[in-house]
Amino acid sequence: MVIREANLADAPAIAKVHVDAWRTTYSNLMPAKFLADLSYEERETKWVKILSNIAQDNFTYIAEDEIGQIVGFANGGQERTGDRLYQGELYAIYILKKYQRQGLGYRLISTIATRLIESGISSMLVWVLADNPASGFYQSLGGQQVNQKQIEIATVQLVEVAYGWTDTRRGII
Ligand SMILES: CC(C)(COP(=O)(O)OP(=O)(O)OC[C@H]1O[C@@H](n2cnc3c(N)ncnc32)[C@H](O)[C@@H]1OP(=O)(O)O)[C@@H](O)C(=O)NCCC(=O)NCCS
Repeated sequence: MVIREANLADAPAIAKVHVDAWRTTYSNLMPAKFLADLSYEERETKWVKILSNIAQDNFTYIAEDEIGQIVGFANGGQERTGDRLYQGELYAIYILKKYQRQGLGYRLISTIATRLIESGISSMLVWVLADNPASGFYQSLGGQQVNQKQIEIATVQLVEVAYGWTDTRRGII
C-alpha cells in the first residue's frame, strides 16, 4: 500500500470510498434510507471543490493498493473554528471496511500530522461521533477528549466528541 497526496483526478475514487465507508460505518447510527440515498456524484462534486482548493490550506492523502485502487483517504488542515489551543484539524479519515485494522489509518493520520507540522502547526483535533468505534483509534494514539457538541444528521440527534493532541510530535508521529 502506498500513501500519496491526492490530486484532482482522484475525486471520483475518493468519493466512492467516502460514501461506501459512511454506509458501513454509520449503519447503526444513521437512518438506512439516508445512507442508501447518498450519492457518489454529489460527493464527487464536493471532492472536486476540495481538491481544486488553490489556497492550499488543506491536504488530502490517499492509500492506494498495488493496482492503483484507492482504499482510504484522510483530509486535514487548519482548525475551522479558530480554537486557540488546537490549530490543526483532521477533517476526515475513511478506510474501506476490508482494509481497516491493517495500519493504514495510522499511516494516514501521521501523514496529515506531519504535513501540518511542516506548515508550522503541531496541535490537532478531530471530531468523531461519540458512538463510533473510531474513538478507540484516536485514544490509542494518545488523543484526549477535549470537547463535545450535539449535531443533527438526517433528523437524528447525535453527539460528537473532539479528540485533541496538544503536540502531535508526541503520540501520533
Ligand atoms: C478509524 C479508522 C480510520 C482507523 O484506521 P485503521 O487502519 O482501521 O486503524 P489502524 O490499523 O491504523 O489501527 C491502529 C491502532 O488503533 C487502534 N484502533 C484502530 N481501530 C480501532 C477501533 N475500531 N477500536 C479500538 N481501537 C482501534 C488499535 O490500537 C490499532 O492497533 P491494532 O490493530 O494493532 O490493535 C478506520 O478504521 C476507519 O476508516 N473506520 C471507519 C470510518 C471512521 O470511523 N472514520 C473516522 C471518522 S471520525
